[in-house]
Order: sequence, then structure tokens, then C-alpha cells
Amino acid sequence: MPTAGLEDHLAEIRREGEAALAAAVDLRALEEARVRFLGRKGRIKELLKGLGSLTPEERPKAGAEINRLHDEFEANLEKRRAELEQLELARRLCEERVDITLPGRDSDVGSLHPTSLIIDEIASLFSRMGYDIHDDREIENDYYNFEALNFPADHPARDMQDTFFLESGLLLRSHTSNGQIHYMENHKPPLAVIVPGRVYRRDSDPTHLPMFHQVEGLMVGKGISMANLKWTLDTMMKTLFGPTAAVRLRPSFFPFTEPSAEVDMWFEPTPGKGRWLEMGGAGMVHPNVLLACRIDPEEWTGFAFGMGVERMAMVKYGVPDIRMLYENDIRFLRQFRGLSRIP
Ligand code: DAH
Repeated sequence: MPTAGLEDHLAEIRREGEAALAAAVDLRALEEARVRFLGRKGRIKELLKGLGSLTPEERPKAGAEINRLHDEFEANLEKRRAELEQLELARRLCEERVDITLPGRDSDVGSLHPTSLIIDEIASLFSRMGYDIHDDREIENDYYNFEALNFPADHPARDMQDTFFLESGLLLRSHTSNGQIHYMENHKPPLAVIVPGRVYRRDSDPTHLPMFHQVEGLMVGKGISMANLKWTLDTMMKTLFGPTAAVRLRPSFFPFTEPSAEVDMWFEPTPGKGRWLEMGGAGMVHPNVLLACRIDPEEWTGFAFGMGVERMAMVKYGVPDIRMLYENDIRFLRQFRGLSRIP
């Protein structure tokens, strides 16, 4: 690099540099210009590398000149960067202007399904009374759904429940009573448990669905009687439906209880205007059921009950057709907002 031509050369690079900065219309172009001039292989860095070919006398002056060009370019670059950043900011402020007069966006709060609300309330009540809450299988075999519950093989009692049978020979449980057997196989008395869950039957009309929910209750202990059952059901109904609710037991038949009863509830939505509604079944656990679970019926007695959850939801919330519960009409479901205890 001849010193004679150095000044011209520097002047040329200075001009080119200024032009490049002026031509940079955004920060990316500016960065390209920086690399082109100041980068490791940039034009100014190349000049510094060329110093080695100069004589020791020439070097200091040339070096100072190049450094001056370097600093000058760097200063201009920063100035240009500040300008471009201002422009960029102005552009964004213009484009992304927030209209603070627009209404805010509501976050949509969901709600628990009425079926869940009822199960929740029942589970909460019974856990306060010391009951265990047990979840059991929906795909079941004949033994747990029928046989261990004292349904004799080929007995017409099985027709009380229109069961879905699977090709495997298994079935969809037709009641939550299967949970009684599994639970008693794994827990020794005294015991108290509720089993909420889905059950399945070949049924569909305004008051029946092929899938619905039940809550099974079971208490086994010493000297457990119908009186304990009646008090428990009464407490459950009063908790769910208010202090005017009351329970009446009507003689009935279930293979797994003896004696057995239909559970009616006195429901009085407006004072003086009440009626009896059928809510489920109950009874004293049949000795054969206890025996199937290796529990001695001479020593232990128990009560059991099974309630329809959808039925309770319909009564409590005034739903006229059970199918409304599962049509997922958002206008229907929204009415349960705010009823959840879960935030
Ligand atoms: N499992 C019966 C049903 O689905 C309901 C029932 C009746 C359950 C009496 C019980 C009971 O535990 O004791 O129709």
C-alpha cells in the first residue's frame, strides 16, 4: 500500500462509507454496512492489515489516519443507528397504536357441569362425615356387576337392568354397586365409602340416557341399621336440597339388599308446594354380598344406597329433560357459572 496513494484511498473509502450509511434505510442494512467496513474482513480492517507493508517511518502516520477514518466511520454509524432507531420507533408507534377506547377482552371463565356440581357436593359432604371416596371400573365382568351382588345366574332380576355386553364377554357396568364388592375385597370393616361414577344401560328417552351417573354409598360396621341409613339419606338430601327436604323409604326389592327400599324425597321448591320424588334405591347389605367379600354377616351389618346423579341435578336445577344435560348447548351450560366451589 503506497503512502502516496493512501490519502486518496482513504478519501475514497470515507466517501463510500458515508454513502453506505446514508443508503442504509433500516437497521439490517446498517448492520450490513458495518460488517462491510468494520468487520474482520471489512474495508477499514483490511487497511490496518496493509500497514505491515509500509516502512517504519511511514507507519505511524498512516496508522493514525486509518484509525481516524475508523473512529469517524464508527461515530457516523452510531449516529445513523440512533436515527434509524428513532424512525423505527416512530413507525411502530404509528402502526401499533393501541386504541385504549376499545372494550377489553374478557377471559372466558368456564363452569362445572351440573353433574359434576352434584357429585362434588355429595363427595364433600360424605368426606366430612369420614367416608372414603372410591372410583371404580366402568368395564366390568359378570361377577362384580351381578354375581357377587347376589344376582342368581339367569335370574330375571338381571333384566331390571338392560346391560350393554361387550364382545369380549365383559360388560359396561349397569350400576355403581360393583364398587361395593371391589371395595369390600380390599378393605376390612368398619368401613364407609361412596362410589360416584358413570353407568350404562340400553335406554334413551326424556328421563333415561344410555350413560348416566350414580353415587353408591356403603357403610359396614357393628350394629349398623336402617335407622343409620335413613339418617344418612336424610342428611344428604337436606344438604343438597335444603332443610325442607325429607326422605321416605318404600319397601322394594334388590338382590343385594335385604330389606330393600325405594328412596323417595320430599321436595318443596316453594313453601307449601311440595311433592315426593323417587331418587334411588337402598337397603341393608344382603348377607350373601358380605360373604362374597369374606365378611362375616353374623358380626357385621351394613347399609347401601344408590342414587341417580342426573335425577338430582334435574330436580335441583329444574331441568325438564335429562338429554339437555349432555347436548352441550353452551347457553344451557353457562347458567351454571358461579355455582362451582372450584374457582
Ligand atoms: N344398583 C341399583 C340400581 O342401579 C341401585 C341401588 C339400590 C343401589 C339399592 C344400592 C342399593 O346400593 O342398596 O338400580
